[in-house]
Amino acid sequence: MAATTEPVPQEPMTVVEDLSAVLPMTAEMRGDRLWIGGVDMTKLAREQGTALYVMDEEHIRRQLREYVKWTTYHWRDCRTIYAGKAFMSVAMCRLVAEEGCSLDVSSGGELAFAIAADFPLDRVYVHGNSKTMLELHEAIKAGVGRIVVDSFEELERVSCIATEMGKMQGILLRITPGIKPDTHGYIQTGQSDSKFGFGMNHGLAMEAVRRALELPCIDLAGLHMHIGSQIFALQSYAKAIEVIVHFMDAIRRETGLVVRELDTGGGLGIAYGLPDEPSTVEQYGKVIVDGIKDHCERDGLPVPTIMVEPGRSIVANAGVTLYTAGTIKEVRGIRTYVAVDGGMTDNIRTALYDAHYEVLVANRADQARSEVVTIAGKHCETGDLIARDVRVQPIEIGDIVCVCSTGAYCQSMASNYNKQVRPAVVFVSGGEARVVVRRETYDDMLRCEIR
Ligand SMILES: Cc1ncc(COP(=O)(O)O)c(C=O)c1O
Repeated sequence: MAATTEPVPQEPMTVVEDLSAVLPMTAEMRGDRLWIGGVDMTKLAREQGTALYVMDEEHIRRQLREYVKWTTYHWRDCRTIYAGKAFMSVAMCRLVAEEGCSLDVSSGGELAFAIAADFPLDRVYVHGNSKTMLELHEAIKAGVGRIVVDSFEELERVSCIATEMGKMQGILLRITPGIKPDTHGYIQTGQSDSKFGFGMNHGLAMEAVRRALELPCIDLAGLHMHIGSQIFALQSYAKAIEVIVHFMDAIRRETGLVVRELDTGGGLGIAYGLPDEPSTVEQYGKVIVDGIKDHCERDGLPVPTIMVEPGRSIVANAGVTLYTAGTIKEVRGIRTYVAVDGGMTDNIRTALYDAHYEVLVANRADQARSEVVTIAGKHCETGDLIARDVRVQPIEIGDIVCVCSTGAYCQSMASNYNKQVRPAVVFVSGGEARVVVRRETYDDMLRCEIR
């Protein structure tokens, strides 16, 4: 007779375990408190002041290594280019350099950060659909690795500036493959109706290739595409890859050029809420790299250097934002608003995309999230909410409110609306907290005023 096994009693999950998909990898509960990177978040918030961005350095490094691992696993000639727009600081540029990765910058300002961090400039990729002449000058002069050219005007400008400087500038052409991924309309970029890149319709993309081959001082190394951000369904990538490798084949047949580099952009989705189940970097790497290899093999093309350009999936879950609960207002029969000392100035994503976040109270991490409240900002807009109707522990004034998964597109999109100073950024690792961006002061804001 088969032995019957007694069910093993399961320990109930703690809030921190329950939220592990949206918290940094080193998040843990000690006593009643949330700790990240071996640092007590409540103590840190009280020492540094709030609002405060906290980033788990180990989590960021692990994500970069995951990309390097799961792309080169399938094809040795792959590069991981971190998309700086997701979160950029000098410390972040240094960390990316230390991990041997490359950097995508999308403005002269982001390039200035790379330069300030002594980032190896031949590993910098310059993006943007409306780069100014000044930005192009700065980039070519600095010796950036590749300019990702987005329009016919820019092709002429790059050629002209490079000729003037007596340099040969490596470029990629940004192609719009005509694929609409399953994500918010504001962050779809690969569809035909897009302000980005050269569309495939009416032979525009092929015309761009021909023009690039005619112009002096331009080395057309390859192609770039970026279909959007926060993408869950990997089939969108598979379809886009099919389109772009077909195009590489057409280029070879029509012009004789063999594309040496193919940059497939970023966009891998992450978990913001507990029901979210994004694909893993391993699954993503397989779809991208195997997809390119298979299509190249079918078309008899040599496999190019493959680049991926992740931003959000490197930093989003590595970061949390800490606030102090300032006021609690119950609108009877409707909802309870907990207003904090930040808002749309440090996190515009809720107002912009109706983003969802998970929230916990850092100094009550041992309690169940038994209440539903709305975390509101302090700014003069009704839409200034951070998390609408979220489950959270019972909150009291002065508690430290921790909003999860805010490492991407929060600090980088921060503003001074209402003349709010932008928060500091602290990296935590191995029990140490290191301020990498200090909190702004009123004087910082007044510095540009002519008085
Ligand atoms: C050209 C380009 N590359 C990479 C990225 C990074 O995308 P994500 O942060 O979704 O990975 C973006 C962001 O929209 C982008 O515009």
